[in-house]
Amino acid sequence: MISAPVGAPRSGEASIGPVGSAQYDGLADAYDAFVQTGSAYYAVVANALGRLLGAGDGRCLDLGCGGGHLLDVTLGLGWSVVGVDASADQLRVARRRHPAGDFVHANAAALPFPDDSFDAAYSAFTHTDFDDFAGAVAEVRRVLRPEARFVYVGNHPCFVGATQEHVATGLPRLHPGYRRAGRWRAAGAPGATPGGWRELLGSFVHLPLGPFLAAFAGLTLLAAEELDDGFEYPKTIALALAKPRAPESEVGTGSESRSRS
Ligand SMILES: C[S@@+](CC[C@H](N)C(=O)[O-])C[C@H]1O[C@@H](n2cnc3c(N)ncnc32)[C@H](O)[C@@H]1O
Repeated sequence: MISAPVGAPRSGEASIGPVGSAQYDGLADAYDAFVQTGSAYYAVVANALGRLLGAGDGRCLDLGCGGGHLLDVTLGLGWSVVGVDASADQLRVARRRHPAGDFVHANAAALPFPDDSFDAAYSAFTHTDFDDFAGAVAEVRRVLRPEARFVYVGNHPCFVGATQEHVATGLPRLHPGYRRAGRWRAAGAPGATPGGWRELLGSFVHLPLGPFLAAFAGLTLLAAEELDDGFEYPKTIALALAKPRAPESEVGTGSESRSRS
């Protein structure tokens, strides 16, 4: 059913420009508590990440690592994980959880790492936060070595977003504005649950399915799952992708000769 909430702004009035990249500063402990509260849900997420990434002993990037709770999974799989986040406060929580961890304060869309320097990468619940998700995935592609895997787990763009209102039945109620990609004020978004995390954050990014999928262009799709997360319509999508093998002409020419895709 498509319906408009009484008094809701038109979609054009609800979207705003990028925010400073440290939006979570001052909120990291609250976010950590929020993640703990949803432990059954995050167990499904952790399971998908573990299955799709698999075990390995190489260098693995956690992009937008937040408080680092998914490192519990990936360190357990044997990876040497480097967590990156734009929020110093989130990294404080991540270091508290993993005192020996390797954490870097950086913008996901401008990573301070050389080409081909990671053996795997993953990112969780970031396309609804990064102002330039496509730029961040392009950076993942650049820093992964050829044939390395990238796993993304996040909110399902069709059923969780600015205009998809969560209702107790698990059937999202749809509102106008789905096609408007970008950052939305929580106060103008029917998809932000009153009193919920998005409202606390103040704003969040909505990507319709098309731009969400297009962000992964240039990577090879290995698997796509709408997770069995307990909701009638899946709230969570998980993708496993791989960086394509380098063309023969590039093999042995050195990373400096490869383009930043
Ligand atoms: C919803 S949290 C997800 C954290 C973690 N991946 C998890 O699953 O709990 C989104 C994270 O993205 C980070 N973030 C937002 N914009 C960023 C950017 N441009 N570069 C790096 N991190 C960013 C935020 O600071 C926040 O920690």
